[in-house]
Amino acid sequence: MRLPEIGSDFWIDPGEDLTPSGGISLEQYRLGGSDTVLLSTGRSAIALVLEERDRPAAGRSRKALVPPYTCESVLQPFLERGYELQAYPVSEELQTTPAELEEAIGKARPDVVLVHGYFGFDSLKGCGTVIRSHAGEGITFVEDVTQTLFSGHVRLPADHYVGSLRKWAGMPDGGFAVRRTGFFSYRPEVCDETLSRMKLAACYAKYEYLYHGRGDKQAFLDMYAAAEEHLDAADRCYRISPASEAILARLDAKRLSDRRRENYRVLFEELKDVPGLHSVTGEPDPDTVPLYFPMYVEDRRALQLKLREERIYAPVIWPRPEHLPAICREADDLYEHILCIPIDQRYDAQDMERVIGVIKKGS
Ligand SMILES: Cc1ncc(COP(=O)(O)O)c(C=O)c1O
Repeated sequence: MRLPEIGSDFWIDPGEDLTPSGGISLEQYRLGGSDTVLLSTGRSAIALVLEERDRPAAGRSRKALVPPYTCESVLQPFLERGYELQAYPVSEELQTTPAELEEAIGKARPDVVLVHGYFGFDSLKGCGTVIRSHAGEGITFVEDVTQTLFSGHVRLPADHYVGSLRKWAGMPDGGFAVRRTGFFSYRPEVCDETLSRMKLAACYAKYEYLYHGRGDKQAFLDMYAAAEEHLDAADRCYRISPASEAILARLDAKRLSDRRRENYRVLFEELKDVPGLHSVTGEPDPDTVPLYFPMYVEDRRALQLKLREERIYAPVIWPRPEHLPAICREADDLYEHILCIPIDQRYDAQDMERVIGVIKKGS
């Protein structure tokens, strides 16, 4: 069945089997470490890592180097713990070179460095050597692999990996923290049952609306918003919900990867010559599993509205976070111009052709 709309929140088929799966392993994401904690969100994974670092000595210096183009919820755990933030540079193509990272570390003299790749691409090529060269200096390196979870590039030799799982498929919650060596001294035992219940109800309501024309669109949008508000208000770490574990254990990673690659390729090929926009991340290598198709768009607002009129919901995934430190001109520009086209496993090439038709209409 061809769906009337493209994008926005994932739904869940009420027929999907959510019986407990016997646990999940992060090995398939090449995140083998000596200890893993599964959590409800990516931000709580960052909080857990910072908590472990800060706890032994309350007065420890708190300076962190972070990506200049990122999500508010990545910065929030640092700000809540009183970290002073500085950002490393990024290019218009979302790349950071080893020399740039090295220089930023030299200038900031950070206690914690959090880096992340973008949209599934290898945005930090060669930066592993920089991390290795600072071994033994007491800097905690964290790689946030949220956006590169399914890609096959070599992971950086960070001390910790963190991520949000819930960006890739319909699930009530999901995040994780991995230690490459040693063990976490704390792991939450309870999940946020209220969050899980609220999210599942919203995901089922959207499914009913899309597949059976039942219910009211505003009602399920309100349900998603209420669940996110509940999540934003959390003041502690929770374990991942059993429903998310079950969904992840049964997730078809090959189908997810193939669909995303194909959808990205169709958009990349057919939008090449459209005036006023271009692909930010370029042609993917075979190891890339893209999260979205990010475009640099001169008049982003106009294109987003044009797509919305045709029920295609293209998100601005990261509005500029309120508390960013000084950042490079390139990152500033990215906040103003990036628009993301959903390319996930819910859609196929025919859906992408519909998106292309709308973008090209009148351009
Ligand atoms: C790179 C990255 N890390 C972490 C997060 C936070 O994840 P969560 O919303 O699960 O807390 C996000 C959110 O968008 C993100 O983009």
